[in-house]
Amino acid sequence: MLGEPAAASACDRARLETLEREILAIADHERQCLGQELHDGLCQSLAGIAALTAVLARNLAVNAEPGPAAAAAEIVRLLNQTIGEARDLAHGLWPTGLNGAGLVDALDSLARNVSRGQGAFCALVEDGSTFRLHPETTAHLVRIAQEAVRNAITHGRASEIEIRLACIDGSGSLSIRDNGIGLPEQNGDDGIGLHTMSYRARAIGGSLEVAAQPGRGVVVTCVFSLPPSDEPSEGAENVRGPS
Ligand SMILES: Nc1ncnc2c1ncn2[C@@H]1O[C@H](COP(=O)(O)OP(=O)(O)OP(=O)(O)O)[C@@H](O)[C@H]1O
Ligand SMILES: [Mg+2]
Repeated sequence: MLGEPAAASACDRARLETLEREILAIADHERQCLGQELHDGLCQSLAGIAALTAVLARNLAVNAEPGPAAAAAEIVRLLNQTIGEARDLAHGLWPTGLNGAGLVDALDSLARNVSRGQGAFCALVEDGSTFRLHPETTAHLVRIAQEAVRNAITHGRASEIEIRLACIDGSGSLSIRDNGIGLPEQNGDDGIGLHTMSYRARAIGGSLEVAAQPGRGVVVTCVFSLPPSDEPSEGAENVRGPS
């Protein structure tokens, strides 16, 4: 009898975790579809228009019409800029790691994309460990990093963000540290990013901690377990940033 409430709550917890995992899977699938549509549909159409306009610009130049030729060349430049933006958006919706790349490559790609187009310097620091993780685990970790980085830029107005990946005491550790304004005294109730990061950490059997740094900024840390056969190898610390 005494064991019943505990059993019921364990059962509720398991059901809640299954539900959380299902919701995340649906949301990820939706993002994947959107990202692919954007990449394969809109980006390809724009690239086709840019190619036709480039031909037009060349023909106008050959026919000694410098004014219209310059206007057409400017349209090509704007189209290419828009293609770049749409491509970055597509990659954000469906990051490299979710296509089967390793965690280090995916986080490196995230850091480079942020540094290239979002007004903050972002670098990946890794200790050289080899992480051979299940693709689903990689996907959750990339999404956690993505949300933490977005928060650092949007809310923290950070100018520098460090994504750190390491093996500590046999567990994986992913942390995202920013130099922004830090957490507000009271968080608004509207956001779901922090909750989703926690769900994702739990979905991979890990934990998530969000802390304001003593000086400035925020550090989000996800500690996750590594499969026993994937004992990471020791290595020198590598810093990867935009070249
Ligand atoms: N790196 C950060 N720097 C400063 N404030 C932060 C940071 N991360 C989170 N916050 C604060 O925590 C709040 C909750 O973050 P959360 O990601 O859950 O929601 P959101 O970003 O507001 O919305 P959503 O993620 O759903 O689009 C933010 O509104 C912000 O006030
Ligand atoms: Mg957020």
